[in-house]
Amino acid sequence: MSAVEPKKPFFSVRDIHAYYGESYIVQGVSFDVEEGEIVALLGRNGAGKTSTLRALARVDDPGLTQGEIYLNGEAIHPMKSFQAAQAGIQLVPEDRRIIGGLTVEENLILAQVAEPIGWDLDRIYDHFPKLRERRNQDAITMSGGEQQMLAVARALARDVKLLLLDEPYEGLAPVIVQEIEKILREVKNLGITTIIVEQNAVAALQLADKALILDMGQIAFRGTAQEVLDDRDLRHEYLAI
Ligand SMILES: Nc1ncnc2c1ncn2[C@@H]1O[C@H](COP(=O)(O)OP(=O)(O)OP(=O)(O)O)[C@@H](O)[C@H]1O
Ligand SMILES: [Mg+2]
Repeated sequence: MSAVEPKKPFFSVRDIHAYYGESYIVQGVSFDVEEGEIVALLGRNGAGKTSTLRALARVDDPGLTQGEIYLNGEAIHPMKSFQAAQAGIQLVPEDRRIIGGLTVEENLILAQVAEPIGWDLDRIYDHFPKLRERRNQDAITMSGGEQQMLAVARALARDVKLLLLDEPYEGLAPVIVQEIEKILREVKNLGITTIIVEQNAVAALQLADKALILDMGQIAFRGTAQEVLDDRDLRHEYLAI
């Protein structure tokens, strides 16, 4: 009988290091994520959360100088950002990159130009009825919450396997945050894996299965989201909550 190989993680980050020019920011980050999990990536301002997401999406800045990234066994670290996107890694940056002058529907169609194509419009609108209502509206005139929905929907139109969200709740009223949470739970139920960076740590932890805390470009804690919620000292030290 052959030895059983340990199951490989769905997404694996191994000792990545990244710089903005001479500035050493991501200082040896390693973690694994299982398929369908939601992971909250937390930490103080300037801890390196955005930089880490950008490095994972293989955006040029910060430059990755060392380390390995695997999605479903496929090596992401040698890729350019467009290749990482084709492999299924979709970064939704803080500013959401909604294209003004185009309608909601045109924004979605533009996303579908990417290969491989993800969800069709009907499927998207079934999950995002608000977007169906507003399909002919100039996307930039939508509310912050609606724009965040569009940003997530656009990732689905591109066949996302790993969704990287940078502060999706920023500037949104609590009731809208709840709407986005509901959508992210649906996305999880479809088996899509999410890493969420949030200043609203409690909201992110309530949504997430696992938590990572970054401090000065290094992982200071990894565990379950519940462990962070239950650990007052940890929250106080790294999250100031
Ligand atoms: N383009 C850049 N050039 C040089 N340094 C940068 C650049 N972008 C970010 N940094 C620095 O890298 C460090 C980490 O920044 P990053 O944006 O990743 O933090 P963050 O955890 O996302 O913070 P926040 O919670 O405020 O969004 C900070 O010290 C920041 O000043
Ligand atoms: Mg940030």
